[in-house]
Amino acid sequence: MTLADLVVVANRLPVDRVSDADGGDGWRRSPGGLVTALEPVMRREDGAWVGWPGQPDLEVEPFEFEGTHLVPVALSADEVENYYEGFSNDTIWPLYHDVIAAPQYRRVWWEAYVRVNRRFAEAAASVAAEGATVWVQDYQLQLVPQLLRTARPDLTIGYFHHIPFPAYGLYSQLPWRRQVLEGLLGADVIGFQRVTDASNFARAVRRQLRYETKATGIRVPDADGTTRLALAKAFPISIDATSYADLARRPDIRARAAEIREGLGNPHTVFLGVDRLDYTKGIRHRLKAFGEILEDGRLGVENATLVQVASPSRERVESYIQLRDEIELMVGRINGDHDTVGHTAIRYLHQAFPREEMVALFLAADVMLVTALRDGMNLVAKEYVASRIDNRGVLILSEFAGAADELGSAVRINPHDIDGLKDAMMRAAEMPAAEQGRRMRALRRKVIENDISAWSASFLAALDAVRTQKDAR
Ligand code: F6P
Repeated sequence: MTLADLVVVANRLPVDRVSDADGGDGWRRSPGGLVTALEPVMRREDGAWVGWPGQPDLEVEPFEFEGTHLVPVALSADEVENYYEGFSNDTIWPLYHDVIAAPQYRRVWWEAYVRVNRRFAEAAASVAAEGATVWVQDYQLQLVPQLLRTARPDLTIGYFHHIPFPAYGLYSQLPWRRQVLEGLLGADVIGFQRVTDASNFARAVRRQLRYETKATGIRVPDADGTTRLALAKAFPISIDATSYADLARRPDIRARAAEIREGLGNPHTVFLGVDRLDYTKGIRHRLKAFGEILEDGRLGVENATLVQVASPSRERVESYIQLRDEIELMVGRINGDHDTVGHTAIRYLHQAFPREEMVALFLAADVMLVTALRDGMNLVAKEYVASRIDNRGVLILSEFAGAADELGSAVRINPHDIDGLKDAMMRAAEMPAAEQGRRMRALRRKVIENDISAWSASFLAALDAVRTQKDAR
């Protein structure tokens, strides 16, 4: 097997399994931002990517895909249930998002998480060249850094945490809190979305492990009795801003945006929400606010519509099943009360769309609603901004989304304050073009300056600095 100098380890491979017309199976690049960001780096470095192919019991040999060596890690149906749906998405996900839903602590889930993390670490160790850099992604794989360091002390290891890291008072609920911290501290660089996430992590390390922390450095004792300095700091992730702007310039996509507005009956204000259907996104709060605005008569369905895209996600996890029922009941009620034959209050789409259609929706929307109750970053906020090359449109942004740290020119809201949210929606609907332009230009500057390639370059530069120091020793 060819060995790689750069190895990415993520829960999912950067490809999706697709069936062609003659019933044969193939692979298609996944649409995600991380995949797009890392593609040029992986090509340049002849990199390898270790990940799950996305279906239970799918055993696939390593293969080449568009310049990247892909190393599939198979998961049985039981492991999908216990490691992915269970521990990752019904323990860690709700706990790390401030217990918006109640985390379930099940020992069999933890055991599967340990077993699967071990398998990912073994796969990464088997494909990494001597002295290689390994970059582990996200909360599904928190034990991989330490497992890898033990197996392969020659590697330089990075870990990026895409979701929030909670305050210690919540984190300490986790029955395996020490093991998870030790797992993460196997990395030389531990990246977070926000400064608060990094400081929550450092505090948990101080309280649980009693290690010394100073600014962004954590002194970690190694097995041989020496100590090393792990770096734990914020590297806010971003998007491939240029590709959104390029799509927004395309005449067919601009025409599609006009067609979407037409199809909605050309209301004065189109509000838009785009989320995975997840309880962290504050979709119910947004629906409630819009429903009350209609109820109060501040807006009517002839002049305002809310388009809500809620893409299917984690559909076998109980809290997601429940949320879908609640949202669909709310949409049905609001529409039933307010629709006319010609106009709808909420156009609800429980579907995923290609990027072209998303950009058309962004261009069609006067007001983008990001009302997350807790969110690591929220890339949709950045995608909306990157698409508004016309410097029009208003972004309403929850202060509980990581993006709020950078996007100070958005209309900032607390989604729990329904009256405040309603006022912000009214203000956005009535905002003069000059103010929209001023805000949007400032937002666009931020997103363009700190795009995804700057993000991956800065994280890899931090890892390079560690490697250079090691080599000098
Ligand atoms: O942002 C968190 C995250 O888990 C990502 O790792 C992933 O791309 C996204 O949410 C979708 O989740 P899933 O892989 O569970 O479908």
